Amino acid sequence: DSLKNAFKNKFYIGTAMSLPQIHGTDVKSVEIIKNQFSSIVAENCMKSMYLQPQEGQFFFNDADKFVEFGEKNKMFIIGHTLIWHSQAPDWFFVDKNGKNVSPEVLKQRMKSHITKVVSRYKGRVKGWDVVNEAIMEDGSYRKSKFYEILGEEFIPLAFKYAQEADPNAELYYNDYNEWHPGKVKTVTQLVKDFKSKGIRIDGVGMQAHVGMNTPSIDEYEKAILAYAETGVKVNITELEISALPSPWGTSANISDKVAYDEKMNPYKNGLPMDVQTTWENRYLDFFKLFLKQKNNIRRVTLWGVTDNQSWKNDFPIKGRTDYPLLFDRQYKTKPVVDKIIKLT
Ligand code: XIL
Repeated sequence: DSLKNAFKNKFYIGTAMSLPQIHGTDVKSVEIIKNQFSSIVAENCMKSMYLQPQEGQFFFNDADKFVEFGEKNKMFIIGHTLIWHSQAPDWFFVDKNGKNVSPEVLKQRMKSHITKVVSRYKGRVKGWDVVNEAIMEDGSYRKSKFYEILGEEFIPLAFKYAQEADPNAELYYNDYNEWHPGKVKTVTQLVKDFKSKGIRIDGVGMQAHVGMNTPSIDEYEKAILAYAETGVKVNITELEISALPSPWGTSANISDKVAYDEKMNPYKNGLPMDVQTTWENRYLDFFKLFLKQKNNIRRVTLWGVTDNQSWKNDFPIKGRTDYPLLFDRQYKTKPVVDKIIKLT
């Protein structure tokens, strides 16, 4: 059986696609994607620095291929992401002298980017991560260029522009660590404000780049319920469970390479059995939660197919060997997949 069959009447189960997958050169991954997943999102090629590297010069080749692949395979296609401070082209925020543009100019640039991209895929891309990562864990607004120039307004503006370009597409606010109480507070407030002002928002995307210990399943469930209560669906986006020790809050720059590897990159030659078991159980705990909350969840999307594709090997520090996804470096289905399927 496959993941997509198992979750058919519950929620979409998706994956991010890399360029070699989109262009079909990573043949084995493409087979897995076709067999296992009912939804896709582009890992990078629909970010603004790739779609509009220079003002008014759009590059759609990769994104077009991605959307064609999704249509051909009858998948629920997600666009990621329209407005994000990261992987945005530098020109977006400055004038010819390198000075911040005026609020009016930034609005115009946002509008023309969103309109061009969303209307190109109108009716084909079914949901958009309209704004990504605008709120901090403490609930304050990220001091991005968008915020610096436009203030909080940039968020509802982006949703309005997207809605005008494709009134039928679902529109999402997407962020990481969205189980953090401070983020939950501001993001739920944002959704409520939108609803009271009649601004369209259909879902909150909870990036699920999680580790072995944090967050707890309980904390995660609380956040899902808080978002659902505001009347939107929850998308579990960018799911992967890193098997490596978290570098956050630890001293990752140990000068002794051997000591460093022991601490930060301990499983270069494979995952020990006990760690593998803990990791499996962590996946199963999350999927049990998703199934329990299936009426509030629209989609669960993995951030990639195989371990060697995962950005986690290089983030937040480079050159580690991580095991965060459902298919291994030999393109083999990990045992956890059957166990997930059995939960349904
Ligand atoms: C990551 C990609 O996986 C990497 O290949 C790229 O180098 C950086 O971006 N939050 C997001 C995703 O919304 O777009 C990011 O994807 C991971 C964090």
